[in-house]
Amino acid sequence: STIFLLVIGVIYLSSATPSKQRTFHGHKVLDITVTTENELKLLSNLIREYELDVWHEPKHLNDSLHVYVEPEKLQDVLSVLRNMGSHFRVWIEDVQRLIDESYTPKAMINTRSIQQHGLDLDHYYHSYGEIMSYLNYVQQNANGNVNQFVLGHSFEGRTIPALKISLPSRNLKKAIIIDGGIHAREWISPATVIWMLDKLVFNPFNEPEVTTILNHFDFYIIPVLNPDGYEFSRTNDRLWRKNRRINKDNGAENCIGVDLNRNFDYQWDPKNGGSNNPCSILYSGTHPNSEPETVALANFTHSLKGVDNGGPVLAYLTFHSYGQYWLYPWGYTTDYPVDQPELHHLGEITANAIWSVHGSRFTVGSSTNVLYAAAGGSDDYAKGSAGVKYSYTPELRDTGKYGFVLPENEILPACQETWAGVKAFAMALANV
Ligand code: ARG
Ligand code: ZN
Repeated sequence: STIFLLVIGVIYLSSATPSKQRTFHGHKVLDITVTTENELKLLSNLIREYELDVWHEPKHLNDSLHVYVEPEKLQDVLSVLRNMGSHFRVWIEDVQRLIDESYTPKAMINTRSIQQHGLDLDHYYHSYGEIMSYLNYVQQNANGNVNQFVLGHSFEGRTIPALKISLPSRNLKKAIIIDGGIHAREWISPATVIWMLDKLVFNPFNEPEVTTILNHFDFYIIPVLNPDGYEFSRTNDRLWRKNRRINKDNGAENCIGVDLNRNFDYQWDPKNGGSNNPCSILYSGTHPNSEPETVALANFTHSLKGVDNGGPVLAYLTFHSYGQYWLYPWGYTTDYPVDQPELHHLGEITANAIWSVHGSRFTVGSSTNVLYAAAGGSDDYAKGSAGVKYSYTPELRDTGKYGFVLPENEILPACQETWAGVKAFAMALANV
């Protein structure tokens, strides 16, 4: 009977704690060299037909296309490629191995932060709950210069937290808005935003620029705009991108999520780099602003337009990964904004500062021209509708070795270089 109880116990335990974590054994990323216009057309059809997740777009002929392919689709995709006579190779053999490699062993601890708030911002990605408690720690220990507020609530009802950093001053300061985590799987984005928040508030390296910058600007920091997606990417699906909306209105209850960066209300158009298909990873939503996360950010940014609760917003930085780009509008058209030379100039100052730290090269340009057209982005909304002149989408590390699955041992260097870029950017802005 002991054996019997043991067996029951094992069955009970394994059914009580089913692993909801999706695994990626045999999931691959293919690298395809696109040699002709015709091939490009055939590949676009293939991507559409199999709903493939494009990890890198070819910029010109003979450039490479990276597509992520699940094992279910692999045989079909490979035979199409062979029939086309495509030049391709396997770029990432096994996405699960990539994911397994991306975690830091738990023994490595940064003692400064551990003694204070218990989080090691240099070496680990953190859960939404850990981020929330860190933000409370910041609020309580920042000598009254930090105010935490609720930006809004996610589809599943999580609080979207925001912090205002503002030194007391007689004159009205202009504002800089920084957000992270619009896309769930881009973990380096919230990690970097929090790391920079820490440096702005506590200035642990006694950097003189921090004082200068805070004398010129108020900061609004939103580390995780898409908390539902972020948590889902931690607990269930490492490659989740969208929010967690149940797409009932479209009769597509089984397809979850809207791509928040296709949902903003400026030149919104699913046919322009988004999708009308609720199952697509790029689903633009039923209409612009259909998502609570989008509305929270858009309303807030718009509310600061033309003064009142602080100066008007001069800059907006929305952190994504990957690819190492410092992008400015527009994302919906190849046209440039009239002040493109100024946007480009400040982008170059930033990219140079980034490069000076670890030699990472960031490409500066308009999204549509250096990446691809995609309407409904938060950067276009900030510039086009909320009147924020300096609006950028930085795409952080790397350039494709790990892609979205950037290992934890790259958090520190990524944060250091991005922080150098943001400091140089804000210092230059202070002088315009
Ligand atoms: N990787 C980002 C995305 O696909 C780039 C966004 C650039 N901005 C834009 N408005 N398209 O969402
Ligand atoms: Zn993104």
